[in-house]
Amino acid sequence: MTSNLDQALALLKAGELVGIPTETVYGLAADAAQPLAVAKIFAAKGRPNDHPVIVHIAGKAQLNDWAMDIPDDAWKLADAFWPGPLTLILKKQPHVSYAVTGGQDSVGLRAPDHPITHELLQRFGGGIAAPSANQFGHVSPTTAQHVRDEFSTESVSLILDGGACDVGVESTIISLIGPRPVLLRPGGVARGAIEAVLGHSIEHLQNAGSAKIRASGLLDSHYAPRTTLLTGNQTQMAAAAEARAGQKLAVLHTQAPLPQGDTTLHILMPDNADEYAQMIYATLRDLDTQGLDAILLVLPPDEPAWLAVHDRLGRAAHQKMSKE
Ligand code: TXA
Ligand code: MG
Repeated sequence: MTSNLDQALALLKAGELVGIPTETVYGLAADAAQPLAVAKIFAAKGRPNDHPVIVHIAGKAQLNDWAMDIPDDAWKLADAFWPGPLTLILKKQPHVSYAVTGGQDSVGLRAPDHPITHELLQRFGGGIAAPSANQFGHVSPTTAQHVRDEFSTESVSLILDGGACDVGVESTIISLIGPRPVLLRPGGVARGAIEAVLGHSIEHLQNAGSAKIRASGLLDSHYAPRTTLLTGNQTQMAAAAEARAGQKLAVLHTQAPLPQGDTTLHILMPDNADEYAQMIYATLRDLDTQGLDAILLVLPPDEPAWLAVHDRLGRAAHQKMSKE
């Protein structure tokens, strides 16, 4: 009998798409060596094709297959954090297709820390191109069912079910193609942990447009639920709830609840950043099915541990009330 993993390998080799689990979010995978297969990812997601996708590899031993002129810092980071939620942007090898890199001479590489996908990568041997397995701009998937909800069985016939993702937000992205490492997207590995390994502080590039780096996770509107999402502090959200009295609302907060209305659903989120990150996308997806008029979210503390969560909430929100 063929296992799911055998099936996934056959589909990838045949140039088809497969949903794969990672520790961050689920990915929509294609053979990175087949530009036509990679093109199917863009078509299925409705994603503009000048956006680069991350190439997933089994580990450090495959780095040289995809990247060249690799600086010492990249080896240090791979040593410290792979397999894990860290993507390194490096100069690409000539064979790496522009379909993968969005026309750029750099490639994003990461070794995911999930037993199923790790085995898949080891048996596959090559690289697996995979963005998050969601429609362009929508909330990222953290369960196999979320992926099923996003794509028809025609475009994605197989999804490997690896359970709920441990980290829950995407990988941290560090660019190593300039004179100094730059943080392009905060994520599963904390900025401070990276700085500790490198021995110096790193710049956080907040405005990708100004630096001519195309990275879809850096677009302003991204990771968004379908329901209107408002974010702000406790006072602002209390005022917003009052202004919307009678509407069907959900209020997300990490501390004291806002005044209760009959039509308001109160959701107490964890006050620990890692636990919050793990469940935020699933929570937003669940709320999207409840026919709400709006989701009001009291922002968590403005502290370094919450950097990735703030980044995603900032992009998911339709209306932001806090000064940022
Ligand atoms: O955790 C993750 O990173 C997940 C899982 C599936 O691995 N993947 C993910 O992929 O978030 P995606 O495509 O949704 O976001 C990857 C980000 C995008 O913003 C993409 O533009 C950026 O990585 N990226 C990839 N290659 C790049 C490159 N050469 N230069 C700049 N940005 C790059
Ligand atoms: Mg994405």
